[in-house]
Amino acid sequence: MAQLWGGRFTKETDQLVYAFNASISFDQKLCEQDIRGSIAHATMLAKQGVLTAEEKTAIVEGLESIREDVRSGELKISEDFEDIHSFVEATLTERIGDPGKKLHTGRSRNDQVALDMKLYTRDEILILDGLLKGLLQALLKIMEENLVTYMPGFTHLQKAQPITLAHHMGAYFEMFKRDRGRLYDIYHRMDTCPLGSGALAGTTYPLDREHTAGLLHFGSATLNSMDSVSDRDHLIELLAALSTIMMHLSRFCEEIIIWNSNEYQFVEIDDAYSTGSSIMPQKKNPDIAELVRGKTGRVYGALIALLTTMKGLPLAYNKDMQEDKEPVFDAVDTVKDCLILFTGMISTMVFRKERMEESAKNGFTNATDAADYLVNHGVPFRDAHGIVGRLVLYCIEKDISLDELSLEEYRKISPVFGEDIYKAISMETCVERRTTLGAPGRDAMKTVIGFCREYLDKE
Ligand code: ARG
Repeated sequence: MAQLWGGRFTKETDQLVYAFNASISFDQKLCEQDIRGSIAHATMLAKQGVLTAEEKTAIVEGLESIREDVRSGELKISEDFEDIHSFVEATLTERIGDPGKKLHTGRSRNDQVALDMKLYTRDEILILDGLLKGLLQALLKIMEENLVTYMPGFTHLQKAQPITLAHHMGAYFEMFKRDRGRLYDIYHRMDTCPLGSGALAGTTYPLDREHTAGLLHFGSATLNSMDSVSDRDHLIELLAALSTIMMHLSRFCEEIIIWNSNEYQFVEIDDAYSTGSSIMPQKKNPDIAELVRGKTGRVYGALIALLTTMKGLPLAYNKDMQEDKEPVFDAVDTVKDCLILFTGMISTMVFRKERMEESAKNGFTNATDAADYLVNHGVPFRDAHGIVGRLVLYCIEKDISLDELSLEEYRKISPVFGEDIYKAISMETCVERRTTLGAPGRDAMKTVIGFCREYLDKE
């Protein structure tokens, strides 16, 4: 047992209490951030004359050596310490002697851990953003290659109107683009440094908090020390953004699972991203898509867990807040894994274009266009809707598609139909006439793809 606060106590901490209280098993993930924060703190203390230049140099070099040795594996983070802060400080003192004991001047673990979690959040947002960008690039490639890959668009999982694969992928492009925007917003909203807030009420040392903030690349220092040590909003926002990413991935996975089913066969998942069955030799299962869908629950769980932890806490710091770490770490790691695997899966997936087009043809997805044809020939839309409804019923009875009806059959139901009906309801016409911004028609899609490319090239 190694702890920072023995002085006031006359009895040893109960072993179980110690273990229950300790956080080193998980907060060791914050080692890099803890050292970065400590280097900035010591640098600021020296500038303010609280530490001598020699003490600062010894502390900074000591911290850098710890960082290197942990990175190389030479120094193992010992779980004998209560938390990562104690481990770093004790190791520093062991290495450099007395100056190490001065590092914590004007600081509490409360502002220290608040800073560590902010630094961690920012580091991870940058990684997540890169992964989202990679996914968007993979989507854009599929979009560019499939401008005229026709497929059914669905509502209620019933074939509705024909679209293109580019258009379908474009919907997800928009979702993941918004997800990046959410991360960006969080990154900028949390641009304030809590260090120097002390336990809750600031400190009596002449700290230059703005200087520390600048050293750590924050825009400014936080303005209320009580809020600084008890604010976990950025973590809640991060978990909400991660939950939304997972919700999008999960919807996409659901579609891939459907498209990969024997009935649809719209896609074939690469062998490298599928698994087999231990009993059924014919099986090739979309396990990765199912697991991503399945893991969505634990990310939502993390969000609800932290909201619940925070909801009853009086100001300022309470130990409950130590419970922020495991759900956040788990959610971040889960989403990173899911993004990597998902991007790999869709980049290697084969789209069976002929199956998609065939499916779009035999589901009356051109019925709206047949009605529009009548409207263009002067029939009021409501009447046109009824006429085409009757045609569809007739086709269902004969088990044929609208394209397969003879002109006589058309005319029997409405004399307005002419030879040009076939062109009007062809797959190509149905899609290509949809040229409003955001629609699947080739020209509209090309415009949007241009915007997407510009967006990705911007950074
Ligand atoms: N392990 C603690 C946490 O994660 C660090 C802060 C400890 N502060 C305290 N007053 N006990 O919240």
